[in-house]
Amino acid sequence: MISWSGLTQTFEYSSGDVASPLGYRLCSTRLGRARATIRAGIIESVSSRRGTFITFEGLDGCGKSTQLERLAVVLRSRGVEIVATREPGGTATGERIRQLLLDVRTAGLDPHAELALMFASRAQHLREVILPALAAGQVVLCDRFTDSSEAYQGGGRKLGSAAILDLHRILCGGLQPDLTILMDSDVGSSVERARRRNRDRSPDIADESRFESENRAFFTRVHNAYLEIAKREPQRVLLVDARGSAEQTHGKIVDLVLARMNVPVEPRRTRNAG
Ligand code: TYD
Repeated sequence: MISWSGLTQTFEYSSGDVASPLGYRLCSTRLGRARATIRAGIIESVSSRRGTFITFEGLDGCGKSTQLERLAVVLRSRGVEIVATREPGGTATGERIRQLLLDVRTAGLDPHAELALMFASRAQHLREVILPALAAGQVVLCDRFTDSSEAYQGGGRKLGSAAILDLHRILCGGLQPDLTILMDSDVGSSVERARRRNRDRSPDIADESRFESENRAFFTRVHNAYLEIAKREPQRVLLVDARGSAEQTHGKIVDLVLARMNVPVEPRRTRNAG
């Protein structure tokens, strides 16, 4: 079970190396030993990484977190060492930024300030967690990454893609995931979730229909921006229909990921088994 206690967890790992067709090796080196060398804003370890970076994207409430946890269980059972993490958050500093962003008292945050906070969390996360794990040959499963900024701040808040891609290049060395699972869900369920959340926080919303139409327009822009990213980068971004049951979606994700990574098809046996 993955717990989002604020920091990432490293799972049990296999003792053997597993070759990956993506050109990296999944091996047993412990997280934290590897160093990411950063000089003049250039992340040198990006080019020398050996691990695999997989991100999960989608609208609020599409079931990303559950699917990420379930994929982690499957990969782990096949002997792959997993680092599961999330954005905003993933480090002690990032989790404080997350609290600030999601706190109802932060309402009225300027979209540029929101974008800057997302990237502040990401820059810390990259250097403290993601790059060291990749340099150590681990598989990083990350719940949201820069595509979220492009979809939510670029599309939803209308800041455009160019600003996000520039910030990504400057602050994140342009690091791209090897694979992005984009979970495609209906805008209506995200609007419903936002309404429930808002009711819980402030039960006296003055104008429900205005709230609903603004949210629908916002999530439609986010959804469209995601689809544009998938169209622009079809090799990296795999669109998964998440409208079915969680079980069906899980099956699709496992098939896609196993097809991309050279991991054993059968779960690992324990030494005493059989
Ligand atoms: P998340 O915890 O994934 O929320 P949910 O479980 O509802 O999908 O993300 C928190 C919120 O932060 C979500 O509304 C999306 C938003 N977000 C951005 O707007 N930009 C970003 O760059 C990231 C990483 C998240």
